[in-house]
Amino acid sequence: MLEGRRIILGVSGGIAAYKAIEVCRRLVDSGAHVVPVLTEAAHNMVGPTTFTALASEPVKTSLWADRDPIPHTRMGQSADAIVVCPATARVISDLATGRSGDLLAATLIATAAPVVVCPAMHTEMWEHPAVQDNIATLLRRGVVVVPPEEGRLAGGDMGKGRLAQPETVVAAVHQLFVGGDGGVEDKLLSGRQVLVTAGGTRESIDPVRYLGNRSTGKQGHALAEKASQLGAEVTLVTTSGIQSSNSIKRVDVVTAADMHAAVSASSNTMDIIIMAAAVADFRPSDVSNKKLKKADGTPTISLEPTVDILAELGAAKKSGQILVGFAAETNDLHKNALAKLSRKGADLLVANDVSAPGVGFAHDTNEVTIFSANGDVQEVPLSDKESIAEAVLRAAAQLLVD
Ligand code: CTP
Repeated sequence: MLEGRRIILGVSGGIAAYKAIEVCRRLVDSGAHVVPVLTEAAHNMVGPTTFTALASEPVKTSLWADRDPIPHTRMGQSADAIVVCPATARVISDLATGRSGDLLAATLIATAAPVVVCPAMHTEMWEHPAVQDNIATLLRRGVVVVPPEEGRLAGGDMGKGRLAQPETVVAAVHQLFVGGDGGVEDKLLSGRQVLVTAGGTRESIDPVRYLGNRSTGKQGHALAEKASQLGAEVTLVTTSGIQSSNSIKRVDVVTAADMHAAVSASSNTMDIIIMAAAVADFRPSDVSNKKLKKADGTPTISLEPTVDILAELGAAKKSGQILVGFAAETNDLHKNALAKLSRKGADLLVANDVSAPGVGFAHDTNEVTIFSANGDVQEVPLSDKESIAEAVLRAAAQLLVD
């Protein structure tokens, strides 16, 4: 978490500036004191009022608007980190060459704090040797660059240059404060092996159709990132397209059988296994190798059960290993969760009522109850999925035997 950290959020004039609003909100939710600094051009893209309302201080733009004659030096000196999101080619160039044409550029040059730069621009600009040289300069100086992603760009073009997702940007900021000089994060899981599954499995019906579910993998990915921040060696078995940090060993899978194989391959050496994935309980017993045609009439799809991975792990648990299950319920949360906890031989069961607002699949927030086999019950109120991940990992870490 970022409690007490003073973070300058620099927003420059790219179309992606609207995503910085979400970054601002998430940083504030993590406890950071956020100071928004918008360039003149950013004012054409987003309203400063929104940032002023969400951040910890009003928006600043000019070197001359303040009574303080040297706002950039004060801000640069007092910052714990500066995040530029989005960073245009111009701001990247200013930082690389030491130009201080406006408040943001001047503050970036007047700081010794870590800097995170999140470029966003058209592919041609991103790939231009001038921009790439500037990025190489920044990387050499220790600036953290959150690379742009492939995807749709302004004007409908496709390619590399789209601003990274807000969660990726915020994870990069969190990463600055992991461990080290009395950072806010401790290394609770240092030296521990943690396996997390994420996303919803897909079971083929024919080459174009599948049976799936509504899980996006957000909670599982948040667990993997948080476990890594807490010092664990993390293996993430996922069906989701969400990016993950380089520190995480990632295995991409599609079906319940793939997930079963990937989990079985590494489960023996794990200290904590968290089954956050929504694994299909059934799959079509016959997968057609040709597309089923309407002209052949309505098909009858017969199903067969998949392996219950968690129950299998629970039945052959390695001593000292902690197993965590998830349960998405729509009714009788406590009763169903407690039954599932004992049926699957898990140590913890994280249950959420997916019918409640802001909870469960596809949301950025979640509200869960963590049931422990030792009888403890912990309610975690509605919060972002990173905070839920931390609560789950702390509960699991408490059960680990040294
Ligand atoms: N799970 C699993 N393998 C399966 C199905 C589920 O490992 N084939 C795990 C999930 O990852 C989750 C937990 O079991 O951690 C609970 O999943 P859920 O689908 O809620 O449990 P079920 O036993 O399928 O119960 P229900 O009848 O409510 O679907």
